Amino acid sequence: MNQRSSILLLFSASLLAACNFPSKQTQPEPTKGHGSSDADKDVHSYSNPEQIKVRHLDLDLEVSFEKETLEGSATLTLEPPTESRKEPLMLDTHGLKITRVEAEQASGTFQPAPFTLGVPDKILGAPLTIQLPRYHGRVRIHYSSSPNAAALQWLTPAQTAGKKHPFLFSQSQAIYARTWIPLQDTPSVRITYDARIRVPRKLMAVMSAEGNFQLHPTKLGNKIGSVPGGLPILVGSMAQFSFRMTQPIPSYLIALAVGDLEFTQLGSRTGVYAEPPMAAKAAKEFEDTEKMLASTEKLYGPYRWGRYDLLVLPPSFPYGGMENPRLTFATPTIIAGDKSLVSLVAHELAHSWSGNLVTNATWSDFWLNEGFTNYVTQRIIEAVYGAERAAMEEVLESQELMELLKTLPEADQILHINLAGRNPEDGVTDIPYAKGATFLRHLEKAYGRGRFDAFLRGYFDHFAFQSIRTSDFVSYLNQHLLRSGGETGQPNVPVDEWIYKPGIPVSAPEPSSPVFSKVEQQAQRWINGQVPSSGLQTANWSYHEWQHFLRSLPTPLPKERMAQLDAAFHFSQSGNSEILHQWLLMAIRNDYSQAYPRLEEFLMSVGRRKFLKPLYAELVKTEAGRLRAVSIYRKARPGYHPIAIATLDEILTWDQK
Ligand code: BES
Ligand code: ZN
Repeated sequence: MNQRSSILLLFSASLLAACNFPSKQTQPEPTKGHGSSDADKDVHSYSNPEQIKVRHLDLDLEVSFEKETLEGSATLTLEPPTESRKEPLMLDTHGLKITRVEAEQASGTFQPAPFTLGVPDKILGAPLTIQLPRYHGRVRIHYSSSPNAAALQWLTPAQTAGKKHPFLFSQSQAIYARTWIPLQDTPSVRITYDARIRVPRKLMAVMSAEGNFQLHPTKLGNKIGSVPGGLPILVGSMAQFSFRMTQPIPSYLIALAVGDLEFTQLGSRTGVYAEPPMAAKAAKEFEDTEKMLASTEKLYGPYRWGRYDLLVLPPSFPYGGMENPRLTFATPTIIAGDKSLVSLVAHELAHSWSGNLVTNATWSDFWLNEGFTNYVTQRIIEAVYGAERAAMEEVLESQELMELLKTLPEADQILHINLAGRNPEDGVTDIPYAKGATFLRHLEKAYGRGRFDAFLRGYFDHFAFQSIRTSDFVSYLNQHLLRSGGETGQPNVPVDEWIYKPGIPVSAPEPSSPVFSKVEQQAQRWINGQVPSSGLQTANWSYHEWQHFLRSLPTPLPKERMAQLDAAFHFSQSGNSEILHQWLLMAIRNDYSQAYPRLEEFLMSVGRRKFLKPLYAELVKTEAGRLRAVSIYRKARPGYHPIAIATLDEILTWDQK
């Protein structure tokens, strides 16, 4: 059932009040799981949660597409609200314009509070230091974001699918929440939040939270009954949406998107938001989401976030997906028409356990988020699509890891990576993802599925709604898996080597896929000239088989051979973004110029960093390629997300242009 959200309704004042969430916050559980010694400090935050903790955030923001700013206030509830503390409150900011800071007095009124903004660091931004009065309860910061905020992309109508309305979305992970909200921007701190967001009429706001509509569904009748994202009220010329997140989450999971969105229900707890021209295709592609949710619950216990919806973003979204709670943000490039790329949905859904429920306390512990999530993803794929597909995805991932290990510096091959002085994004490689998942598979194989499944489920329960370090996991592992039962002759998984050493232990399990062996035979026959392209037995090949086929081909490959493949299989025209990406990489490597118009078109229309980075990096390897890259980048750059631009500017040494 589809409902257009752009139909805005007017409400009487009384109903209007009922639709808004009360600003009273619920008390989150305290964060446990780690101590607060200096060694534990998150090196990517200026904040001082060991002295004062922010427990709740109340956001009140107006979205201006003209100024490309968010403007309003953030009210932070502090703990403890005490008279004994003397330390100032330190918050993270990056590029924020702070206009006024007020602190709550014992009387409940807000009075101006002295504050200073430190010298900005390129990676970390600037600390905001606020002197608190003797009694302090809440602190309110009036501010606006910069048009250059790294978390925010402001899209013109031309950059959207509908072409009629502008679009805004945020990407807070890893340390960009501070570019649109002043807060303790560290995953070791968990907060609840409320938000009121004012947007131009006709547009819809969604957040990683419960929309106001869900509180009073019966009052609104059936018409809007299928729009769980929030029903707006009119405030002046703007429409105001209200949200609340009552479960404590880390700051990197606070998310906002604004655009012309349509909601389609998928299952009783699942649905998809997309621009109207994308809505039907998206709903079809993601129709297994409810099944995935049920499968994950069966393995790892109840889903604790209420709804699980997806938001399909415009193609400039720099990531494949982002696990914002209750509302995964996703690139449209996974809509292939045949569900072949939906393991991304499984991945973001899996984060509802690994990452959002049990969270890495610092970015050095990032593998606790992504390695666990990749392991769980494969279990979901196996449950929903079968072991054969899961095995193929495992092999494809392991190939990428092995490639990466050939060139990655040893220090960056360590799961518990040292990121001091670096951007946490430097740690986002196949190491936390694929090496992390392989470590868990090693444990699974050594101790058996039954025991490992019970262990993992227990782990999620034990650390639910907590932010933990690698050492917390290791002690839990020692207690509940390695030493449980105390039998002799336990299988030997080199835990320390996995976590603290580069490379992959020799005893690591190696994935294999019988289906892929057949693909390799076909590829070999073609390479040897035993069979022409048209003679290859490729009937009913899935995306995975095609991908493996392409990766099995040698470099260099003569242009004529590329042309033969293209004529037989139309790779340059592929509607599958992963296949197209792989093919375009090969086109650059082999100077197969017939694919260059398609390459330019792809680079001009897609902003997913995972695709852009290897393509540009491949182009700049030759002088002719570098010139082509520069000319395309000049045109494409204004349409890319700030996060992608930062990466690509380096590859193209753009500063010097
Ligand atoms: N949480 C990540 C995305 C992320 C990581 C953003 C670090 C910023 C910093 C998300 O869950 C993710 O891993 N996305 C992958 C897709 C996945 C299927 C491997 C992506 O975007 O490619
Ligand atoms: Zn992830």
